Amino acid sequence: MTIEDIKQVAREAGDILLTAKRPKIMEKSGHANFVTETDEKVQRFLVGRLKELLPEAEFLGEEDGQDEFSAKMAKGFCFVIDPIDGTSNFIYEYRPSVVSIGLLKDGKPYMAVVYNPYDDMMFSAIAGEGAYMNGERIMSSEAPLSEQLSCFGTAPYYEELRDRSFDIAKKLLPLCVDLRRSGTAAWDMCCVAIGRCGLYFELKIQIWDYAAAALIAREAGCTVTDIEGNPLSYTGASSALCMSRGVKEIPTCFKEA
Ligand code: IPD
Repeated sequence: MTIEDIKQVAREAGDILLTAKRPKIMEKSGHANFVTETDEKVQRFLVGRLKELLPEAEFLGEEDGQDEFSAKMAKGFCFVIDPIDGTSNFIYEYRPSVVSIGLLKDGKPYMAVVYNPYDDMMFSAIAGEGAYMNGERIMSSEAPLSEQLSCFGTAPYYEELRDRSFDIAKKLLPLCVDLRRSGTAAWDMCCVAIGRCGLYFELKIQIWDYAAAALIAREAGCTVTDIEGNPLSYTGASSALCMSRGVKEIPTCFKEA
């Protein structure tokens, strides 16, 4: 199995998003935590196709009750998938939403694909071999934060994190050009990887939101950690901070807020 095989699967999953009918929405637990029939359909498609590529792999995915990290996933291969990162965007036709496929090897990020079908942008990385977008090598920006956009996620499902998220965002705004909120964490990290933004943060995201995009960002020269600067766990939910090459230190607002 090669990264090209995973990209092909992501492309076909993206086609399902592009041709999906107006979604039937189902509520999950928490504020605005939705799932649609398409999330479930794409997850079934991904699991089926990826199993053919690597039959020995475990699966961890957002939908269909496959969302618990277990000890066996820390050994051998484990696909960590988000069929639609940006489900609310998908429901409201607010672009983009992306297909995210990470492959862990012995619990560490090994291969990654994030596909935005609306702009036909295919991000990919293999650990130690660089990050690519539509086959072209990418690197994050070397410009200082003061000359770059920042993006953040509002951790929408966790009410207890709301005040702190916006306190940090308020203090971050004067340190950069302006703030953006895309609605997909995986896409945000890809935007830092390709030099559209200098920094992304969110106080709680799930492993399927970051498993692929964090490797792509790291391979593009970014520093990717939790918001205290510790390595991401790759076992479950975490805060996330992704800084481009030009952002050398964690900005003060993360300590103050
Ligand atoms: C969500 C998106 C959103 C982020 C949330 C994620 P989902 O993923 O990435 O941008 O703020 O924390 O859970 O639910 O659309 O797959």
